[in-house]
Amino acid sequence: MDKVLITGGAGFIGGHLADFFLADGCKVSILDNFSSSSRDSVRKEVKIIEWDIRNTVKPGFFEGADAVFHFAADPDVRRNAENAKSCFENNVAGTLNVLEACGKAGVKGFVFASTTSVYGNAGENPASEETAPAPISNYASSKLAGEEYCASFSKKYGIKTSVVRMANIIGERSTHGVIFDFYRKLKSNPKRMEILGDGRQTKSYLHISDCISAIFLVFKKQNKEFERFNVGSGKSTSVDELAHLVAKEMWANPEFLHTGGEAGWAGDVARTSIDVGKLERLGWKQKVSLNDGVQKYVSWLKENA
Ligand SMILES: NC(=O)c1ccc[n+]([C@@H]2O[C@H](COP(=O)([O-])OP(=O)(O)OC[C@H]3O[C@@H](n4cnc5c(N)ncnc54)[C@H](O)[C@@H]3O)[C@@H](O)[C@H]2O)c1
Repeated sequence: MDKVLITGGAGFIGGHLADFFLADGCKVSILDNFSSSSRDSVRKEVKIIEWDIRNTVKPGFFEGADAVFHFAADPDVRRNAENAKSCFENNVAGTLNVLEACGKAGVKGFVFASTTSVYGNAGENPASEETAPAPISNYASSKLAGEEYCASFSKKYGIKTSVVRMANIIGERSTHGVIFDFYRKLKSNPKRMEILGDGRQTKSYLHISDCISAIFLVFKKQNKEFERFNVGSGKSTSVDELAHLVAKEMWANPEFLHTGGEAGWAGDVARTSIDVGKLERLGWKQKVSLNDGVQKYVSWLKENA
């Protein structure tokens, strides 16, 4: 593979993906509107297309790309709960615009960034790719809609499409999510920390390096016209346990205060456990433990946030 284009390539996961492909010797272009990222974070070898995918996307952007990784989105569950229309425009209409352009440009490979939150309260634990989705947030609904458009476009244009349903991805350069939130709270007050919900919510967390290896493996190895893969750790961890890990890394011993309730916020899925057997059967293995992942991430935050 010579040339890849990553939408949202200035963001957390897209940025790591860009680094991975550069190291692999590919020519990398990113398409981003820098709404939640900055040009300064983009390496100079990367070609930048500054564009907002809520507007019609030009097929010319994708000409010559062997594959497109569509990672641009508004990933904030809480913000999207407040503004369903903006969620739709960025995550559904934006995806449609990207797919239309890819189809017209003759792109042959496509990877779509989805989420395990599409399972919502499906009630099947662990949830496999066969589990019927039951989203409980605008964000999860928008990603599921995006997946379905990927399915129809892969058929119409013969684009080999992989959907990666990612769990909570943690690691260097992430400036959102629960660990980032804990870090900021403890930095401003190491004696007390508020935890949203009852702390017993359980989720799957995965370090960014394992996430990138999974995305690449899925892209390389899956040969069907359209397939979905869970990407995460097979283990679930409680929010309380995670809070203790972060506090330990910051040498803090705070009093933990819970806001109460099963879920932390509207649209928060209280119990997530996912089956990653399909990914493992491709040959993927998690390499970074949760403890090591938290340690790496918190060290980075100490230096950079
Ligand atoms: N981080 C996670 O834990 C996680 C988990 C599951 C799925 N995902 C999905 O993975 C993708 C990347 O997530 P992330 O954590 O790197 O997010 P991020 O916010 O760091 O990156 C998203 C990027 O998309 C860009 N963007 C947003 N709206 C855009 C628009 N309208 N036009 C062009 N660019 C736009 C932003 O500027 C940013 O650079 C998203 O699709 C997200 O929904 C993330």
